[in-house]
Amino acid sequence: MKRILAPSILAADFKALGDQMKQTEENGAEYLHFDVMDGMFVPSISFGMPVLKSIHGATSQVMDAHLMVQEPIRYIEDFKKAGADIVTVHLEACTDIRKTIAKIRECKMKAGVSICPETPVEEVQFLLPEVDMLLVMSVHPGFGGQKFILESLDKIRRIRKVIEEQKLNTDIQVDGGIYLSNVKEVLDAGANVIVAGSAVFNGNPGENTRAFMEILNAYE
Ligand code: DX5
Ligand code: ZN
Repeated sequence: MKRILAPSILAADFKALGDQMKQTEENGAEYLHFDVMDGMFVPSISFGMPVLKSIHGATSQVMDAHLMVQEPIRYIEDFKKAGADIVTVHLEACTDIRKTIAKIRECKMKAGVSICPETPVEEVQFLLPEVDMLLVMSVHPGFGGQKFILESLDKIRRIRKVIEEQKLNTDIQVDGGIYLSNVKEVLDAGANVIVAGSAVFNGNPGENTRAFMEILNAYE
């Protein structure tokens, strides 16, 4: 199973975003994680389609859009036009999750579904065969720089077990509070797509990316 790093640009220095993205790309980060916050589903507001549109041509990284947005079905086409490759929506934010996933597929993007820390695995298990990726939030969505919620590890283990039992190839992405010091525990639990914002963009993004990729590439 390929292990992928998805640096979250929420933590980037927007004065130097182009250069910082390049540093993550040149050092092996395959995805770029794009945290869209609407101030309704989560308390913060971050950025949206115009920023994605302006950056997606500047990198070959996979544009991994995480929509922390109420009723995201309204914006799927816009994110497709802006250059998203993957759109992940929150189970808790959709009136009709299946209709939303179908819309993402209709727009020829990979579909992800995300659950907040307080949402049990049982509520999303039924969707595993229908999505490309399951995003387990290891912090309460809305802010970067939070502490990893340790109970997330058991959720990841349980989801990995279901994926293996059902012989699915759904990716497990984990997002929030992941650093060089705890990423191995997250991999051990069964995640294969790692989101890191602060740990990549605080300090030297190139060096931080390289350090993460050393761990991901060496992981058996
Ligand atoms: C939080 C976002 C996360 C966050 C990760 O709602 O979804 O992607 O930016 O940030 P760090 O890695 O700084 O915890
Ligand atoms: Zn995110």
